[in-house]
Amino acid sequence: MEPHDVDGDLEEILYTEAQLQARIAELSRQIEIDYAGRDLLLVGVLRGAVMVMADLARELRRDVEMDWMAVSSYGSSTESSGVVRIIKDLDTELQGRHVLIVEDIVDSGLTLSWLKANLESRNPASLEICALLRKPEAEKVHIDAKYVGYDIPNAFVVGYGLDYAERYRNLRAVAVLAPHVYS
Ligand code: XMP
Ligand code: MG
Repeated sequence: MEPHDVDGDLEEILYTEAQLQARIAELSRQIEIDYAGRDLLLVGVLRGAVMVMADLARELRRDVEMDWMAVSSYGSSTESSGVVRIIKDLDTELQGRHVLIVEDIVDSGLTLSWLKANLESRNPASLEICALLRKPEAEKVHIDAKYVGYDIPNAFVVGYGLDYAERYRNLRAVAVLAPHVYS
């Protein structure tokens, strides 16, 4: 859906569909260079990373494998606690693989910090992170993400996979959710 389909729920459009596609194309060119000559396994984190995974994978001018993990972090609906539980694990062995985690957003960094340590313990040949969005002001633990789409302000955003209470994931843009929706 387009922003006007949920007009009134959104405070501000941060990135349009065209801007997101252009940035993902830039990231893809870099990933093609960095992983030239090596097999690549993309690990998407359900459910927020579905859109960025679908677009990134199709933008890449090379073959990749894709696998998915679902994790849940305990805490309130708009703040992460860092206590993470695996809901669905990977089906792929990571031993010796070049792995790129594909995430929607680095907020506090707690989820990715936990996930990175978890996947690292499976002995991949390499492990890097690609996150479409990052909120530098919200950082509680530093995440070394090799590929970042955009640094954004510390506001709750929705769209392009990101939800509030499972809504707005299918919005084509990334937008700041209007506070009246969740307060
Ligand atoms: P952390 O804080 O652990 O973020 O880096 C973990 C997960 O929380 C979700 N998240 C958001 N979801 N709008 C959303 O729709 C946001 O602004 C937002 N910030 C964090 C997201 O699933 C992330 O992986
Ligand atoms: Mg997520």
